Amino acid sequence: MDMTPERWRATCAYLGGVFGPLGEPIDGQLATLRQRAAAAGLPDIAVSPDVGRLLMLLASMAGPDGAGARLAVELGTLGGYSALWIARGLAPGGRLVTVEPEAKHADFAQGEFERAGMAARIELRRGLGAETLARLLAEHGPGSFDFVFLDAVKSEYATYAALASRLLRTGGLLVADNCLGSRWWITDAPDADPTAERDREAMDRFNRWLAGPTSGFLCACIANREGLAVARRVAPPGTP
Ligand SMILES: C[S@@+](CC[C@H](N)C(=O)[O-])C[C@H]1O[C@@H](n2cnc3c(N)ncnc32)[C@H](O)[C@@H]1O
Repeated sequence: MDMTPERWRATCAYLGGVFGPLGEPIDGQLATLRQRAAAAGLPDIAVSPDVGRLLMLLASMAGPDGAGARLAVELGTLGGYSALWIARGLAPGGRLVTVEPEAKHADFAQGEFERAGMAARIELRRGLGAETLARLLAEHGPGSFDFVFLDAVKSEYATYAALASRLLRTGGLLVADNCLGSRWWITDAPDADPTAERDREAMDRFNRWLAGPTSGFLCACIANREGLAVARRVAPPGTP
């Protein structure tokens, strides 16, 4: 069956409707979060509901013996939409650290975490992704995290991944959004916009490294929406 633009649009609508919502108590909040964030002036670039549900599922199996993640980190909070999904997959007592440099985004997200009764489980750090990962490494030590989600600056994914390699325990999961596209698409000809082209090239290099034999990860790309790379750390933290 060929994928036409019409079929792709219908597929995305189906995915969102069927594989997005989970049910109360917090679905009412999640269902309106992206709309309310856009009305508050935040960019409308959160993950889709079906990707949110997938993040929850992956976080719920990222801990030892397939249990939920005990310690997770997300780069790129925006309004807190993906963070709330990830937090639903944590182990009992588990915590998510989410990182956001924009005060307006962070303020909105913090309000959502409180409204969802999740503020004790989600720690919002106002800062830059790479610096915060380095700080978490110093605070918690190598191999201390079960789950890492990358959704910040696309051209910095390689830097994030190098730090995440040290932060993740062997068996932990690295998940990266936009590994196929954003305003650019991975298989398109070079983009006329230099920023888009920088991101496209950086993501191609990141994908090839992650999928290659030296990364220390076993990985696959889920080709829904803009592409989600899912990788399990198989080498000890900090190697190769
Ligand atoms: C695609 S949005 C994140 C969407 C969010 N994960 C969701 O699905 O709900 C990217 C976010 O990364 C933030 N950001 C920008 N530069 C960053 C950096 N250096 N480190 C961490 N986050 C950054 C942006 O302000 C923006 O809120």
